Amino acid sequence: MFVTFEGPEGSGKSSQIALLAPFLQEQGFSVITTREPGGTSIGDEIRACVHNVANTAMTPVAEMLLYSASRAQHVGELIRPSLAKGHIVLCDRFADSTIAYQGYGRGLDLTQLHQVTQIATGGLQPDITFLLDVDVEQGLARRTGGGLEMNRLDLETVQFHQRVRDGYHTLAASDPDQWVIVNAERPLPIIQDEIRTKLMERLKETAVRLHK
Ligand code: TMP
Repeated sequence: MFVTFEGPEGSGKSSQIALLAPFLQEQGFSVITTREPGGTSIGDEIRACVHNVANTAMTPVAEMLLYSASRAQHVGELIRPSLAKGHIVLCDRFADSTIAYQGYGRGLDLTQLHQVTQIATGGLQPDITFLLDVDVEQGLARRTGGGLEMNRLDLETVQFHQRVRDGYHTLAASDPDQWVIVNAERPLPIIQDEIRTKLMERLKETAVRLHK
């Protein structure tokens, strides 16, 4: 099963994945955790370039293609082979980040973005996506206050990040089977419980379907 986590800056995706992976392992599942951009050594090199705050000259299209190149490598080298071996893959951001940030945030053409994304993923789609939803200003404050690495996109305006958050809601509304919206303004353990419950339900449904 391919599980992705999306959300604006400071939504706590990585903390939730770090709590979820050992829980799933205790339940007997084999789990791979990974992230975008990155997840492979080539992807990590792309991550360093695309997030470098000194790269102020990077055009929106170059940025989008770099995220997509990282994704193509990630899908081919890690995600598809892991899914084929029956692992649960927990991925911190995936193609929906490109639609939210480069599409709704930067204003690139959504139809073209879907075409590039289709090339990068080869059509692979998440089985379930958790949208960790947080107020934009609260999320940005969490990042700056948490001593986390700042990237080029963190330096964008609040309006940019608001468009990203709104874009996520548009995506989630368009496919309620894929998306689970989680209020990420609550304490970490409460959010974790909700994610565990929803994911276990989905895993059971999938197991029932496979045995029919
Ligand atoms: P994060 O690792 O802290 O989530 O940071 C990743 C940053 O990269 C975040 O600002 C969102 C951005 N991003 C995009 O703009 N497009 C993408 O396709 C991906 C995967 C990430």
